[in-house]
Amino acid sequence: MANSLEGASVVVLGGSSGMGLATAKMAREAGARITIAGRDAERLDAAATELGGDVATVSVDVADENAVAKMFDELERVDHVATLAGAAVYGRITELEVADMHRPMDVRLWGSIHVAKHAAPRMNGGSITFCSGVAAEQPVSGRAIGTATTAAAEALGRALALELAPIRVNTVRPGAIDTPMLKRAMGDRYDELIAAEAQRLPAGRVGEPDDIARAIVFFMTSPFITGVTLTVDGGHLLT
Ligand SMILES: NC(=O)c1ccc[n+]([C@@H]2O[C@H](COP(=O)([O-])OP(=O)(O)OC[C@H]3O[C@@H](n4cnc5c(N)ncnc54)[C@H](OP(=O)(O)O)[C@@H]3O)[C@@H](O)[C@H]2O)c1
Repeated sequence: MANSLEGASVVVLGGSSGMGLATAKMAREAGARITIAGRDAERLDAAATELGGDVATVSVDVADENAVAKMFDELERVDHVATLAGAAVYGRITELEVADMHRPMDVRLWGSIHVAKHAAPRMNGGSITFCSGVAAEQPVSGRAIGTATTAAAEALGRALALELAPIRVNTVRPGAIDTPMLKRAMGDRYDELIAAEAQRLPAGRVGEPDDIARAIVFFMTSPFITGVTLTVDGGHLLT
């Protein structure tokens, strides 16, 4: 069945938390064999336990090309890949250190490049999904680097949809999604900010990790969809 992942091998980078963990869970429920990757081995083990065992884990930093290459070399089979790894830096460009601005580029843009470069030769069709964010479309002062890296990831996805065909390459563009990353970003004002955002959004709530997982599994199971950036933001870009 075209819309089943039965027997497929699905790799989720950033699969130990938030949207990536939800994606791994949903793909597993659709019948896939799952590999999750992230930097922290303990977090990966906890996620594998939460997923119910029988899940491979790989400790890897997507910014490290050699580590990404080794990971894909050692996988027996790769059908679908999603990379959710991201890093943010906040502040005005005139006040940030250039060294600090490299990390988001290294993780989201170079990480996506490393993943595509080393996954594609192992794949025979299937799909790769990148992750951006609404800042790609709607810049916010003090987040220029986030806008640049997410927009670059989307452009990379469109270009690679041509270059890597018949592998399909798409990008999911999340709005505010209630994950550990969002909790860390909001700090002490989490409850207050989530409530305000829910009231402001046309959807009447912030996103859940499953909202993004559903979009990624949709990409994996939709053979005629490639080169697409799908916004999943509860209407944020309309407001
Ligand atoms: N939450 C939001 O509202 C929101 C909105 C727009 C876009 N996004 C983007 O959506 C993606 C997923 O975010 P999330 O909210 O689900 O975050 P999360 O809960 O913090 O999960 C991030 C995952 O990525 C892994 N990761 C981070 N850096 C990595 C690296 N360099 N190499 C390999 N794995 C790495 C983390 O594990 P380790 O830390 O152990 O490596 C974790 O598994 C991110 O790219 C984020 O920027 C989030």
